[in-house]
Amino acid sequence: MTPTTAKRTVPGLVAMARRGEKIAMLTCYDASFAAVLDRAGVDALLVGDSLGMVIGGHASTLPVTMDEMVYHTRCVAAQARSALIIADLSFGSYQASPEQAYANAARLMAAGAEMVKLEGGAWVAPSVAFLVGRGIPVCGHLGLQPQSLHRLGGYKIQGKTDASAQTLREDTHALALAGVELLVLELVPAAVATALTAETIVPTIGIGAGPGCSGQVLVLYDMLGIYPGKPARFVRNFMAGAESIEAAVAAYVKAVKNGAYPGPEHSV
Ligand code: KIV
Repeated sequence: MTPTTAKRTVPGLVAMARRGEKIAMLTCYDASFAAVLDRAGVDALLVGDSLGMVIGGHASTLPVTMDEMVYHTRCVAAQARSALIIADLSFGSYQASPEQAYANAARLMAAGAEMVKLEGGAWVAPSVAFLVGRGIPVCGHLGLQPQSLHRLGGYKIQGKTDASAQTLREDTHALALAGVELLVLELVPAAVATALTAETIVPTIGIGAGPGCSGQVLVLYDMLGIYPGKPARFVRNFMAGAESIEAAVAAYVKAVKNGAYPGPEHSV
């Protein structure tokens, strides 16, 4: 197993995408997994608010608090050496105003995040610009936005109709203009995600968005086969047949980098 030694930075990941190297990202919530994922060569660790579901056992990400996000970010930062650390702004921590977003993003950065992620389209662009203008790199999140679960009526594929694909295009453009430097695309048809990736200068990170993105992210527990019930179609269990967790994660990194994951069978 080849350990990754070069420190991953935001400009470094953007450059990686520009030269055509895929970005391998996984969620991570604690120090022990951070050390393993780092050794296995994961480019970016996302302290996602999915921790409310996979660690807290909640039915959605809505109950997650900023205190929890700060605590888990600090845990991951304690052991991540090479990987870039991205942390989610929790539900209710940024929607009210750019000032609110800045106050909470600053807490994540002080806890060890190197970039923050927030969900939303054009409406969130003023907050993105406010954060970027004050030195905080931002990752956007379009397509399925789990914090908007109740408005969307469930965890559903987004961008299936021409009109919703056009809204995705406009939101991508607005976020790019505001200064996002990475963009997660969740549960978007592969053809739509591929077209968005070709149209924007911002590297895209897909989850259930097909192989045409600049990189991929999965919830760590999903790719290790630890989930209650049936996994989503886009998930591959890398633990199946692997000798260790580190080997499974290294296999994920390799499969993302060489384009073997996601395959057509993982597209929505
Ligand atoms: O919270 C999270 O884990 C996420 C990923 C699903 C992208 O936002």
